[in-house]
Amino acid sequence: MSIDGIAFHKGEKILLKDATVGVMTHALHYGHAVFEGIRGNWSEDNHEMVIFRLKEHYDRLLRGAKILRMNLPYSSQELCDITVDLVKSNGYEQDVYIRPLAYKSQELVANLKLHELDDDLTIIVVPFGAYIDNEKPINCQTSSWRRPEDTMMPTGVKLSGLYTTSILAKTEAVSANFDEAILLNHDGSVSEGSGENLFMIKNSEIITPTETDNCLLGITRDSIIDIVKNEMGIIVKERKIHRSELYLADEIFLTGTAAHVTSVGSLDNRKIGSGNIGDITKSIQDLYFSIVIDNKKIQKKSDYSSWLTSFRI
Ligand SMILES: Cc1ncc(COP(=O)(O)O)c(C=O)c1O
Repeated sequence: MSIDGIAFHKGEKILLKDATVGVMTHALHYGHAVFEGIRGNWSEDNHEMVIFRLKEHYDRLLRGAKILRMNLPYSSQELCDITVDLVKSNGYEQDVYIRPLAYKSQELVANLKLHELDDDLTIIVVPFGAYIDNEKPINCQTSSWRRPEDTMMPTGVKLSGLYTTSILAKTEAVSANFDEAILLNHDGSVSEGSGENLFMIKNSEIITPTETDNCLLGITRDSIIDIVKNEMGIIVKERKIHRSELYLADEIFLTGTAAHVTSVGSLDNRKIGSGNIGDITKSIQDLYFSIVIDNKKIQKKSDYSSWLTSFRI
């Protein structure tokens, strides 16, 4: 099945269905690539596309490319400009998902070389709906799969190969009739969801694993930390979280570009708080949506316009 969409591929703007690579491509065999997941939210009220923290996503992509020693001939700003142009030509008046992928593009050679390979970049834009229904809390399972340590594979950026762990964890959770997996670190502390960062609320304190707890350095995570500080006057505490602390939390929520802010109703068949969306989570969710989608007219103390790239199609 082909997905209707558009791509910037090998330096050209083309239809997504024509953006192909050969089966011998290095990245396909070894997961030797780095990507981003970016949302363009369609504002029906203002009749414009609003891309959330575009520059920060490309900054993270370039950090991943640096770790992989890739040579990409684009600055973060150039990538933003290419993306805006692509979304405009796409013409969708609905939410879109933007997926840049920087990858080792060389075809495998007879000696199966793993180093000194060519790089390339593709950016695709496709229509996108809800990843998780944010209206109701989800049921999570502590995964039997552990989040890799940064010494095994860099965890702060979106390396393609790293997602094997997320895929195993999510598949395990869904096969057991849960919605999402929570992964622990090798030392047993909490890291994150298969595609989301985790926040826990206990006695009105908001706590999230630290940047060195092997979680992805999420852009939504970073935004929530700022929003909670600016709008609620609460400093999010970044510290190690024990697995059993989660069972006793008043509220838990997950954050991510795809998942937005999603409440966790239960973990390993134990209700979290009342099992419903908690009051603090609901306030954070409303504030977040009022910034990202502008669907709730909430008066805010700070200005977040620098996070938004808005334009008419
Ligand atoms: C493993 C993982 N953690 C966390 C996140 C959340 O990151 P962000 O808020 O930048 O989308 C994602 C989603 O991209 C992810 O894949």
